[in-house]
Amino acid sequence: MENVQNKTAIVTGGGSGIGYCIIEELLRNGAKRVAVIDLPIPRTHEALNKLQAEFGKQRVILFECDITKPEYEETFKKAVNALGGLDILVNNAGIGDETNVERMFAVNNVALIRGSLYGLNYMSKHKGGKGGTIVNIASVAGLHYHFSFIPVYAATKHAVVGFSQALKDYYDKTEVRVLTMCPDLTKTSIVETMTFLEFVDMPNAWQDVFMDSQSPTKVACAIVELIQKGKNGAIWSVKVGERPHTHEFQPVTSVPV
Ligand SMILES: NC(=O)c1ccc[n+]([C@@H]2O[C@H](COP(=O)([O-])OP(=O)(O)OC[C@H]3O[C@@H](n4cnc5c(N)ncnc54)[C@H](O)[C@@H]3O)[C@@H](O)[C@H]2O)c1
Repeated sequence: MENVQNKTAIVTGGGSGIGYCIIEELLRNGAKRVAVIDLPIPRTHEALNKLQAEFGKQRVILFECDITKPEYEETFKKAVNALGGLDILVNNAGIGDETNVERMFAVNNVALIRGSLYGLNYMSKHKGGKGGTIVNIASVAGLHYHFSFIPVYAATKHAVVGFSQALKDYYDKTEVRVLTMCPDLTKTSIVETMTFLEFVDMPNAWQDVFMDSQSPTKVACAIVELIQKGKNGAIWSVKVGERPHTHEFQPVTSVPV
């Protein structure tokens, strides 16, 4: 079991929802210091103030950045320097704007992939690092095929799963575990502010489904458990009324061309 005690972490999108709760759970479980990378908006500052009030100024540091911009690389470097090294990267930031395809892929995929590569640069053994953990936040919409009401979001989350499953194969070189968490519907602002394509059929009683959805704290606890127990390449999902469980892909016996 990997302990998060005394570890340093970067959490993207940590100013709200699941990301905020991941930071709380990491710090409650003894992480040394966490860097939040999120948009320069009032909500991010309010989150930082609350986290610092609970856990102390030394343990939570904020780096304001739109991770789709080129300056993300420099911001990442500053965060690692301020942390004094990096053990855990949680690529959590995401959006749900079906009407803005480019932005959706820019945040949910391009920034997540770039972040993973920056993380490897610091943590990977083959770069002189000491190994570590990357957790990519996908969604159950990235595992199953009944999400026709959010086709763009589902495509971005399938891409997160695909990228993570390919990256995990380099563990022997990197000693960086690549883990994927696929939450089911969770009560956060991404769902409240979701935009939809005009022709899609919405599931019945969508508002009721949202009201009955799980808390971000439950998802964050599952993510910390995944960091503690997950084997390299593990894909976990966390759903309403269930304990987190692993998702198995059928093993591939030959490389398709
Ligand atoms: N809420 C759900 O039902 C649900 C289900 C499955 C997966 N997820 C995933 O969980 C992750 C967290 O989402 P959430 O539900 O907590 O929503 P949220 O909207 O509360 O949090 C998303 C965070 O990402 C940040 N962010 C967005 N764009 C950014 C950018 N360009 N640069 C930096 N930060 C940016 C936001 O400011 C926010 O703090 C996302 O990847 C989301 O897709 C959510």
